[in-house]
Amino acid sequence: MEPRTLDSMNNFLVLGGSGFVGSALCERLVRRSGGGGRISVPSRRSARVKHLLTLPTVEVVQADLHDDVQLARLVAGRDAVVNLVAILHGSEAEFERAHVALPRRLAQACLAAGVRRVVHVSALAADAQAPSMYLRSKAAGEAALRQSGLELTILRPSVIFGAGDAFLNLFARLQAVLPVMPLACASARFQPVWLDDVAEAIVRALADSTTAGETLECAGPRVYTLAELVRLAGRWSGHERPVLALPPALGHLQATIMEWLPGETLMSRDNLRSMQVANIASGRAPGLARLGIDATTLEAIGPGMLAASGELARLNRWRAAAHSG
Ligand SMILES: NC(=O)c1ccc[n+]([C@@H]2O[C@H](COP(=O)([O-])OP(=O)(O)OC[C@H]3O[C@@H](n4cnc5c(N)ncnc54)[C@H](OP(=O)(O)O)[C@@H]3O)[C@@H](O)[C@H]2O)c1
Repeated sequence: MEPRTLDSMNNFLVLGGSGFVGSALCERLVRRSGGGGRISVPSRRSARVKHLLTLPTVEVVQADLHDDVQLARLVAGRDAVVNLVAILHGSEAEFERAHVALPRRLAQACLAAGVRRVVHVSALAADAQAPSMYLRSKAAGEAALRQSGLELTILRPSVIFGAGDAFLNLFARLQAVLPVMPLACASARFQPVWLDDVAEAIVRALADSTTAGETLECAGPRVYTLAELVRLAGRWSGHERPVLALPPALGHLQATIMEWLPGETLMSRDNLRSMQVANIASGRAPGLARLGIDATTLEAIGPGMLAASGELARLNRWRAAAHSG
């Protein structure tokens, strides 16, 4: 199917555009709008968002989205807004601020500025009764936007794989240094979807106003358990280790320790609670096919992607060893 165009739109605001999905989206939006569009990406750390600066027509602006005046200024005059802001770890108040209050305030800012078109990226299995703060707050954020009456399309991806992802690449990196792979929630189910398919889905949703009012599930062609995904990540990166499925109590202990370790949190107890529900398409909502996208398989992308990151990790280890020798 021919990619749809964005003929009538050329001024976009992409909240969270500096992140994993946002970067892929900006690249695609630049290409699809034929170099004529203007894409603004607000960031709390604009000086560190250098990778977007090579894209013509993308401007990265330092901004605090939690400030109503700044948000109103950012939204004014846009043809459409995409919201990708999210956190994976945090307190109840932090989830509420990023996933619920921001979408609610975004809706108000859009209504006040006369901006009608919004594409909001949520998450598969978001539900008011879900076991985790992440999924409950995602559901509340969706509800806040739905109530606004905007021309809203919601996309709900399963876990997203692609260059630089924080999922398969993390399991590949861990297996490069660990003799066995201790794994909580080993039987949790996912339906991984390719980054480029998600970015394309956002572009097509923007271009297709008939999706307004719809919630679309973005999932790949196959369901995997977490243990299967970890083994594939190990195999494709050249470091397959035995997977040691942890019983719930040990998984809980592991996540608790990881929450307290310094540096970036890799796993939290809230993540474990998210994995209690299957992260797979419900079958009750339209999927990528609604946007004319034939979902790419993990097998088509994963081996090349992880072989390349495994090679890079090996080179980095040799370089570090050479420097310390
Ligand atoms: N990645 C996945 O596997 C996956 C799966 C399902 C759903 N999703 C959803 O897809 C969307 C995009 O995810 P992603 O993986 O691209 O996320 P990401 O890489 O973490 O990017 C999110 C961006 O949001 C901004 N942000 C984070 N916390 C913020 C806060 N408290 N206030 C203001 N801005 C904040 C950050 O921008 P600055 O630091 O530049 O300010 C960041 O670059 C999210 O809604 C996510 O829930 C992702």
